Amino acid sequence: MKTANQDIKPITTRINDNGNIEIGGCDLIELANKYATPLYVFDEETIRSMTKSYKDAFKSYPNMRMMFASKAFMTKSICKIMAQEGFGLDLCSGGEIYTAYSAGFDMSKTLFNGNNKSYEELELAVKLGIETISCDNFFELALLNNVAMANDKQVNILLRITPGIECHTHEYIQTGHLDSKFGFDLTQIDEAIEIIKDEYKNLKLIGLHAHIGSQIFEKQVYFDEVEVIFKEIKRIKDKFGINLNTVNLGGGLGIKYTEKDKPISVYEIAETIINSIKINTEKYGIEKPIVYIEPGRSIIGTAGVTLYTAGSSKQVPNGRRYQAVDGGMSDNPRPSLYQAEYTVEIANKPNETETELVTISGKHCESGDILAKDVLLPVIEEGDVICFYDTGAYGYSMSTNYNRVLKPAAVLVNNGKSDIIINRQTYEQLCESDVIPDRLNG
Ligand SMILES: Cc1ncc(COP(=O)(O)O)c(C=O)c1O
Repeated sequence: MKTANQDIKPITTRINDNGNIEIGGCDLIELANKYATPLYVFDEETIRSMTKSYKDAFKSYPNMRMMFASKAFMTKSICKIMAQEGFGLDLCSGGEIYTAYSAGFDMSKTLFNGNNKSYEELELAVKLGIETISCDNFFELALLNNVAMANDKQVNILLRITPGIECHTHEYIQTGHLDSKFGFDLTQIDEAIEIIKDEYKNLKLIGLHAHIGSQIFEKQVYFDEVEVIFKEIKRIKDKFGINLNTVNLGGGLGIKYTEKDKPISVYEIAETIINSIKINTEKYGIEKPIVYIEPGRSIIGTAGVTLYTAGSSKQVPNGRRYQAVDGGMSDNPRPSLYQAEYTVEIANKPNETETELVTISGKHCESGDILAKDVLLPVIEEGDVICFYDTGAYGYSMSTNYNRVLKPAAVLVNNGKSDIIINRQTYEQLCESDVIPDRLNG
C-alpha cells in the first residue's frame, strides 16, 4: 500500500478555484499574505496519515514502539500531535528534552540519544524520568552512572552500536567496522558489558540500538540490521547470561524530494522488519524483543512546504538567470550543506507553462546560498510566491540566524484552518541574548 512519503506533495495539495495552490484547504497565497514569508506550512493530515501508516503497518507485531525522531522538527505542537497519535519521542539534546517536558509530554515515553551528552543533559533526562538512554561510548557510560548515583536512580540503557551496515539513499555498504562518530564498534561491546556489570551498578542494560542512515530507499538494510543485532543478542546471552529484551532500529525511511527519488512505503519496511524478526528470533533461539523505531523525515518531511516571495533577479550575460527569494540557507541549509534537491512551484501560477530555466538563490552573503539550481518554471515576476515542497524535516530544525536574518514562522493547516505553531522571530528576540559589558559602554 502506498504511503504519503512516496509522493512529493502533501496529501491535501490541490489547485483551487482562485488558480492557486492550496494545502490543508488553505490557499498558499492567502497564507503568504496573512503570515508573510518565508513561511513554513505544515499539513496536519499528511503528518497524521504517516503516523497512522506506521501504526497500521506494524500492527501485527504487538511489541512495537514508535518514537518520532524530534530532531527532524520539534515544537510543542508537534509533541501534542505525537502524543495524540500514540507515538513516543526520540530526543537528542537538553533543548529537545525541555521542549517535550514543557509541552506536557509523558516523559516515560521518551528516549535520549546522542554521541556527546553532557552531565547536565543526562541529569535533566534522569530527573525528568526519560524511559531509556541510548549510551554511545565509554565516556558516557561513566558519566551517566555518576549522574544516576548522584540522583539515587537505576537507569535503563541501550548500547548504541555500529552494526557495520551503512546506507545513504542508493549506497549500501556492509563492513566489519564502520568509520562513524556514533556508537560502539561490535568489537567493543563485550568490554562495555564487563564494565557495566562490574562497576556501573546504577545502569541497567536492557538492549541494543542502531541507526543505519537516513533517506534510505532499500528494504534489505533493515533485514540485515535486525539480523546483526539479534546475532549479538544471542552472543551476549551465551557469553554473559544476560537477556536483552529491547532493540532500537533507529529511523531512516526516505521521502520523495524530486521525481528521481523512489522511496518505498512504510508497509514494505514493516513487512521486512517483522519478517526478519521472525526469521532471526527462530535462527538464534531468542525471545521476540520489544522493538523501537525512530522515524523522523518520513513522518514530517512531506507534510511541510516553505513559501518564499520572489524579489530581485539577475541575468548573467550568456549565463544563468538567478531569482532571489526572501529566505535561503538560514531557513533551509540542506542545499548548501549537501546539495539537496527540491521540487519547486510558483503557488500563484501552478497552471502556467514552464518556460524558463532559473536558479533560485537565497538572500545571504554567501555564493553557496542557492536553494534550487536550474529548475524549469513559468516566468517568475517580483512578488510571486514560490513553494518548495518537502521542507518539513531538517528545515526549521537546522535553521540559523545567519546574517541576523529572523527565523520564519510556521503554521499548521487543516481543513481550511491555519494556526501559528511557531511565531516569526522578532528583532527584539534576536538581540535578547546579546550582552554589552559595562566597559564597552563608557
Ligand atoms: C539515532 C537516530 N534515530 C533516528 C533518526 C531519524 O532519522 P530519519 O529522519 O532519517 O528517519 C536519526 C537521524 O539522524 C538518528 O540519528
